[in-house]
Amino acid sequence: MKYGPLFGICDKHPTPETLIENIKQFEAQGAHGVVIDLDGLEEQYFTRECFRKILAACCRVESYVCCYRSAKTEHISDETRAEYLLMAAEEGASIVDVMGDLFAKTEGELAFDEKAVEKQKNFISTLREKGASVLMSSHVAKPCSMEETLKYFHAHYERGVNISKAVFHCNTQEEYLISREISEKLCAELPIPFVFVCSGEYGRKFQRYETLLNGSLMTFVRCRDGEVQPSVRQALDFMRSRTPWASAAKRLDSGEFVNRTAVITGAGSGMGLLAAKMFAGQGANVLLVDINKDAINEAVEEIRKNGGKALGMVADVRSYADAEKAAACALDNFKRIDFLLCFAGGYEPRCCNSNYPFYEQPIEVIDWGLDVNLKGPVYFARACMPAMVKQKYGVIICLGSVSGVQASGYGPMYGTSKSGLFQFVKGLALAGAPHNVRAVCVAPGPVLTRPGMAGMPTPLKRAAEVVEVVDFIMDLCSDRSSFITGSTHFIDGGYLCNFGR
Ligand SMILES: NC(=O)c1ccc[n+]([C@@H]2O[C@H](COP(=O)([O-])OP(=O)(O)OC[C@H]3O[C@@H](n4cnc5c(N)ncnc54)[C@H](O)[C@@H]3O)[C@@H](O)[C@H]2O)c1
Repeated sequence: MKYGPLFGICDKHPTPETLIENIKQFEAQGAHGVVIDLDGLEEQYFTRECFRKILAACCRVESYVCCYRSAKTEHISDETRAEYLLMAAEEGASIVDVMGDLFAKTEGELAFDEKAVEKQKNFISTLREKGASVLMSSHVAKPCSMEETLKYFHAHYERGVNISKAVFHCNTQEEYLISREISEKLCAELPIPFVFVCSGEYGRKFQRYETLLNGSLMTFVRCRDGEVQPSVRQALDFMRSRTPWASAAKRLDSGEFVNRTAVITGAGSGMGLLAAKMFAGQGANVLLVDINKDAINEAVEEIRKNGGKALGMVADVRSYADAEKAAACALDNFKRIDFLLCFAGGYEPRCCNSNYPFYEQPIEVIDWGLDVNLKGPVYFARACMPAMVKQKYGVIICLGSVSGVQASGYGPMYGTSKSGLFQFVKGLALAGAPHNVRAVCVAPGPVLTRPGMAGMPTPLKRAAEVVEVVDFIMDLCSDRSSFITGSTHFIDGGYLCNFGR
């Protein structure tokens, strides 16, 4: 069975007719599956004949059937609920949702009552014998610690299901960060696919990014106020353009950067790493450059496994010889260099583990701050730009920072270099303009490449998600931004608006 990533939710339908209409709308919009929530149906429609009719409407989409407890079906016993689900499995449902507290209603929707668990296990194997995949769900609907959260997924797995789903709330960025760590653990530990939904005040904003960010098997789309089509279309456009790995072949067909080549420094981690995946996801050939060999190898392998074209090169941006080698490698293998993205960089006291005031900083740390952050982009631009000038096309992106405006007494080379880049892109813009080569500096505020960045206060009361910055860089590289050159763009959640106050 193949699961698509996008499932439209068909709920609150009192009759099979309106439900089927909703299924067809989602199908027409290109959803990969539909969630058929039976608990909206009037009681007279809980018949095999109606289920057959509804499931027959899902000939081109996967069907995920659930029958949660709602005001309408609260009076139905869990045994009857199970009979309905079994009927759906017999009528061809692809996925059947078994609540984690089926047969023993429990807060947090996960029962540990021994008899109920035994009954669940038998029921799950019966459903599987009928050919359905079984998903166990718990709508916990509150924030939980890592330990508690993992307990849900592991308990589902131990009961013999194919897929585990749990819905939690994240109301703050801190809680959302924990959810990221949890999803990493789930990806590494859980032997079955999972759906990890972080709702709540903070999590809801990023729900559409889930497949991209946390390894969830599927993403859900709701129809709001009867407006089904725009939401599906938007979500699909979003998935097609931003999801870097699922169904790579499809994406490469519609990829904005097919036949383009990106040279990306600092591609072993953080924003550079996500940019490599996202540019490859859009069809670009990518050359990943970093000093961290293992990180590069791992990233290249993942991109290739997902159908992207990637090469890795261990290089130090402080060396002009390395910059020339990287440019030559891109040209030898991909024949062009369309984008140069200079991510390699960092605050020297942190990167060199040397937290002293400037007057006590070892000179090597000071050199590191200037050489990696300023000379790195200068060297790579010098090495890559001739190819861009020759092909009459190119975009150079330098990563500045709000630290180019702010100062630090411990790592002043960082801010000096970043403000140097504000100026550098202007020179590049003038040199490149006659040849259709643009240069732009993107200057972020705090970005969640490290949890520590969440502590830097912004008026938006959060740090940027990595994808938000990379997304913006993709826009700047696209032809939609063809009149933007020589400028520095702050992406800082309003951080600098308050600066100095
Ligand atoms: N994360 C933030 O909050 C933030 C904010 C503003 C600006 N920035 C800037 O954005 C860029 C990316 O930041 P990030 O947080 O994603 O970085 P990161 O620390 O996650 O990754 C930096 C990468 O650069 C590589 N690197 C370091 N020295 C190198 C060298 N000499 N040659 C080649 N590669 C080298 C590292 O191995 C690492 O893989 C940096 O230039 C940073 O200054 C970051």
